[in-house]
Amino acid sequence: MKMLDGAVEYRTWEREDVPVPRDTLLREVADADGIICLLTEKMDAEVIERARQCRIISQVAVGYDNIDVDAATKRGILVTNTPDVLTETTADMAWAILMATARRVVEGDKFTRSGQWKTWEIMGLTGQDVHGATLGIIGLGRIGSTIARRSKGFDMPLVYHDLKRNEGLERELGAEYLPLDDLLRRSDFVVLSTALTPKTRHLIGERELRLMKPTAVLVNIARGPLVDQRALYRALVDKQIWAAGLDVLEVEPVPSDEPLLKLDNVVLPPHLGSASISTRIKMAELAAKNCLAGVTGKRPPALVNPDALERR
Ligand code: DGY
Repeated sequence: MKMLDGAVEYRTWEREDVPVPRDTLLREVADADGIICLLTEKMDAEVIERARQCRIISQVAVGYDNIDVDAATKRGILVTNTPDVLTETTADMAWAILMATARRVVEGDKFTRSGQWKTWEIMGLTGQDVHGATLGIIGLGRIGSTIARRSKGFDMPLVYHDLKRNEGLERELGAEYLPLDDLLRRSDFVVLSTALTPKTRHLIGERELRLMKPTAVLVNIARGPLVDQRALYRALVDKQIWAAGLDVLEVEPVPSDEPLLKLDNVVLPPHLGSASISTRIKMAELAAKNCLAGVTGKRPPALVNPDALERR
């Protein structure tokens, strides 16, 4: 906001504990030249239609599946996001979740606090080894590659799947490209780090979960709908896979009747991938920079839809 002060007039949604209500959003976008939004705002065709004056929608996140980019592009509205500044922090979190899930850190913490710790048990709360295990990454983009690099410290064989091969990283890390099914069969840890698109929705469903090892851990650091949550619940209950660490869920915030909440072999941070103090500040700064460029007719640093420039 310091960056916006004096440069533009602006209004903000003041509450941090609830997202902007739909009717407020529809009303407030009507006379805005630029909008800075979070992934909690559904910037669909209706909102974009109402935003008659809007020149830029500046998302404070790298993922932007909440924004109808096609609708924005048709109207010549620029869409921007916050890549790069959150890559390392999100990769750190992928590892935090992977290790917490593998080594039952959250269950162990609950066990200690609830007074159940009576003695040192030889097989008590035993988990899966991380070192030496095969890491399978689905989506070897900026964040996926950064997660991959960290695996070297754990001597992990690395396999990956993506739309296209990354031969540079294959050479650098000895990563092996595999078709999705082979990756699922081979990996001890499967990490999802790919964008949510109509093609990747429910990328991991009943069939895919059945291909995984009974000792495997699934980690989702990207978007909840990549995983069919009903199928995952069944796979966890039926011990088809060993555990899951999910930073993101199909519905956020999670409804209180979500079946996964009852399972001990699931770790569920509330979408904290990029949540370090310094990274969240950098994301906000980049979003402000993008927005100021957009409203003053300049090309923003992190433009998602360059085609929109032609339509202005
Ligand atoms: C993103 O940037 O897309 C994350 O989900 C939030 O940081």
